[in-house]
Amino acid sequence: MNQDNFICYLRAKKSVDDRALNLRVWHQLKESLAKIDTSDLPIRVLEIGGGIGTMLMRMLEDELLPDCEYCLLDINEQVIQYAPDYLAKQAKEEGFTFQERGQKGFTITAHERKIDLELVCADVFDFIANSEPRWDLVIANAVLDLFDLAAALPRLVEAVTPGGLLYFTINYDGHTIFEPQLNPSFEEKLLQLYSQTMDERLTNGKPSGDSRTGRHLFSQFKKLGVEILAAGSSDWVVFPGSDGYPGEEADFLRCLIDTIDQQMKNHPRIDLDELEHWIEERKNQIQRGNLVCIVHQLDLLGRAQH
Ligand SMILES: C[S@@+](CC[C@H](N)C(=O)[O-])C[C@H]1O[C@@H](n2cnc3c(N)ncnc32)[C@H](O)[C@@H]1O
Repeated sequence: MNQDNFICYLRAKKSVDDRALNLRVWHQLKESLAKIDTSDLPIRVLEIGGGIGTMLMRMLEDELLPDCEYCLLDINEQVIQYAPDYLAKQAKEEGFTFQERGQKGFTITAHERKIDLELVCADVFDFIANSEPRWDLVIANAVLDLFDLAAALPRLVEAVTPGGLLYFTINYDGHTIFEPQLNPSFEEKLLQLYSQTMDERLTNGKPSGDSRTGRHLFSQFKKLGVEILAAGSSDWVVFPGSDGYPGEEADFLRCLIDTIDQQMKNHPRIDLDELEHWIEERKNQIQRGNLVCIVHQLDLLGRAQH
């Protein structure tokens, strides 16, 4: 996916995530944040792999955040550069104020809450290694399945203050389903091998992915003494209504299909002609508005015990 398509994908994903995020976990987060004493200092939030800022916007829309310092971090320079445009536009539509505050700093006022936003382009693990463990809340939405969980999680847990919260959402958990059925034996093999590529992916020679991140979070949290305050499923369910797909969700589906294409077209066990036919048919179904896609994911809210 090129950078423009990736930004388009993140924008289109917002409404899909809005429906998918587990409300029980969301409400527990809201309740837990309300209990933090903010008389001396505002809450400090770090969102890792935050993309263009859709989670921040969602939290403002739903009045979830109290006054806070919000650090939105992503390793991808283009998305961090685009984030102020996206946030300013969305803020205007919602009637919030969005003001520049020095380089890479912004102040958002929404529902009488003040958010001091800082945008950081960095690798999350370099960033955490070079900063104090000072965050009251760390957020990762649709990010953790890109990492080797056993190596990544201890470092994320160490980044929060004692009793700090970890809100980890849209964690892939092994199942991608397309309807109606199309060449089922090929599709089953394709999706099984696709999951396997996530498990075998290496970045700088190190494992960097887990197709069952959602379920593995339970044991990993336990190992690190993190109390699970709430957990639940957050499946993507994308389907056309009478007017077709909502918002930009047809683009979201095209990006998903393109990602599978990119990952699998050089796979030694995949027949290229069969793959091309599958891609073309699935894209035609999107065009005609009759593809349904379900992706199984889990949300967890944890509290660090250290
Ligand atoms: C699937 S996107 C999700 C973006 C955003 N959280 C959302 O839901 O719209 C994953 C993001 O993680 C970022 N990312 C991947 N590895 C990272 C790392 N080591 N440090 C910081 N960000 C990273 C990517 O650049 C990408 O923007």
